[in-house]
Amino acid sequence: MASDNTSRGFTSNVGAILAAAGGAVGLGNIWRFPYMLGQNGGGAFLLVYILFVLLIGIPLMMTEFIIGRRSQRNVVGAYRSLSGGRKGWVLLGVFGILAAFLIYAFYSVVAGWTLNYIVMAFSGKLAGLEPAAVADTFSTFTQGSFWPLFYQLLFLVLTGLVITMGVQKGIEKVGKILMPILFLLLILMCVRSLTLSGSSEGMRFLFKPDFSKLTGQSVLSALGQSFFSLSIGMGAMVTYGSYIRKEDRLFKTSIWIALCDLLVAILAGVVIFPAVFAFGMNPASGPELVYVVLPNVFNNMPAGTLFAVIFFLLLGIAALTSTISLLEIIVAFAVEELHWKRSTASAVSTLLVFAVGAFCTLSFGPLKNVTLLNRTIFDLFDLITASYLMPIGALLMTIFLGWCFPKVEVKDELSNGGTLKCKAFELYYIILRYIAPAALVVIIISGIVG
Ligand code: TRP
Repeated sequence: MASDNTSRGFTSNVGAILAAAGGAVGLGNIWRFPYMLGQNGGGAFLLVYILFVLLIGIPLMMTEFIIGRRSQRNVVGAYRSLSGGRKGWVLLGVFGILAAFLIYAFYSVVAGWTLNYIVMAFSGKLAGLEPAAVADTFSTFTQGSFWPLFYQLLFLVLTGLVITMGVQKGIEKVGKILMPILFLLLILMCVRSLTLSGSSEGMRFLFKPDFSKLTGQSVLSALGQSFFSLSIGMGAMVTYGSYIRKEDRLFKTSIWIALCDLLVAILAGVVIFPAVFAFGMNPASGPELVYVVLPNVFNNMPAGTLFAVIFFLLLGIAALTSTISLLEIIVAFAVEELHWKRSTASAVSTLLVFAVGAFCTLSFGPLKNVTLLNRTIFDLFDLITASYLMPIGALLMTIFLGWCFPKVEVKDELSNGGTLKCKAFELYYIILRYIAPAALVVIIISGIVG
């Protein structure tokens, strides 16, 4: 699509931050983070998580931005151009596209659920149900075929339409509109949750670390979660990095995005745990936490229907800005490398993702018994991407930029051609070369062994 603006990318730094924060903030923050924290003992998990975000997450996000902005290309084009066309590195880009495709396929299932829950909350279908009936509603819906597929496709089409509108009029604009709304709704939910009597126990669970509950496995989960949440390891931020203006500061931009992402995860915890504890529900119930436990919580609180609508709307908005970033990885590749029209690329990718993603949806119902290593198709996609593809992609990326690319060029990009002081550059470079790869090797190996 022809752009009426001089640049091909984002028009402002705020626009870039909101769009990329939209890509980062998603189901990972509001659905996955709370249930993982619930299963891993609370406060101690949060502390480890924060440490990983600051120490490894932010430097890796900067790394993706450097690769993207330096090359001005999609993830395949970026590795091709920066490596001088070496096949191995081009493959790393292809690997990123593949990973994005797989994540999008299972992510869109849960994204579709949010639409169903918005409709159900709005029409009052969840109100007044007994806990057993709430659980039943969830399993009946997810085990079905037509409706889960319908909502998944609806979500995919919605995302496809935004992407068709382009980087400035689609991605950036939607980020600028939806992210402030998301924060507003989230704060509203926090106030509701904190004013329930008995909410302090939930706050203690979230913020008071009990290190005896921390296992090696939960430390790894915290690291994996930080990657998933920050969208690191497969080229989403390379693609968005290629849209960041040359005069913007990559260091500052990454910190803002990571802090937004962290803040939303913590606020989601503040919404969920005080309420869960106030009504004596189980914080460790896993992936069903927001779909089964929360509706019960809403049923117990004054104006619960209203807050149920707000909550699922919030979840849907968070999911949409993330599916946009997932589809853009694929579409930017098809447009820049294969020279497809943006609308064609977006339509074809959407259909392909649906063709594969439908199996993920059906793996809750008709295909429940199709398993490998005791996991359903949905679980396999989640496991393969979050535990293997993302850390492996991130490891290879650090090797590329830290060991196979001139240090002066890395510094040049980060300091905007030497115009910024960049005091932390040496620290960043040490993390890039040694600390991040070492941490990544540990996760990858323990993922394989454990
Ligand atoms: N970070 C998003 C979330 O927390 C998920 C996501 C969007 C993602 N784009 C990604 C994860 C790219 C990995 C890579 O919900």
